[in-house]
Amino acid sequence: MTRNGIIALVAGVAVAIAAGIWISDLVISKVETRQAQDNGAARVGGPFTLVNEQGETVTEADFRGRYMLIYFGFTFCPDVCPTELQVISSAIEALGPRGADIAPVFITIDPERDTPEVMARYVALFHPRLTGLTGTPEQIAATAKAWHVFYRKAEDESSSADYTMDHSSIVFLMGPEGEYLKLFAPGTSPDKMAEDIAAVM
Ligand code: NI
Repeated sequence: MTRNGIIALVAGVAVAIAAGIWISDLVISKVETRQAQDNGAARVGGPFTLVNEQGETVTEADFRGRYMLIYFGFTFCPDVCPTELQVISSAIEALGPRGADIAPVFITIDPERDTPEVMARYVALFHPRLTGLTGTPEQIAATAKAWHVFYRKAEDESSSADYTMDHSSIVFLMGPEGEYLKLFAPGTSPDKMAEDIAAVM
């Protein structure tokens, strides 16, 4: 498919979701390839320095000792991001008391619009412990690269907003030492997510 073809494809919301799944499939296959290459020790994740919704600097070390469910997206996202954040929230609730050991984290790939103030209002809609992380464009780019997350600005003719963001939609489960444990593709149900998390906790 040509680049213009891809851009035309993602213009419609329904098709954009399909493209997100397609992109996620690409990322998943890339992650799996790396896992094979590394003999099971996937190089997903790593150190990051970002800014939370209180405007405080946060690094990966602040999450040591807890599991993390990480999702990359943006607050202007019309459907995919809210859906996945709701799934994360429901999965944590489904885990009961064990859910307290999991830190849900939403990292924006649209730092231009997603200031700490915008993130604070947004994360409160989904889970009381959801951390919203933003940063400089360079900080976000470095973090997304470490997690193999694709994103880019795209024209948004269907909305009054100047632009939308194409991005991969994957939930990452990281362990208490910051190690990669598992990823969840779009469409994973909260119960399935909770079950798979319980199996590795
Ligand atoms: Ni989204």
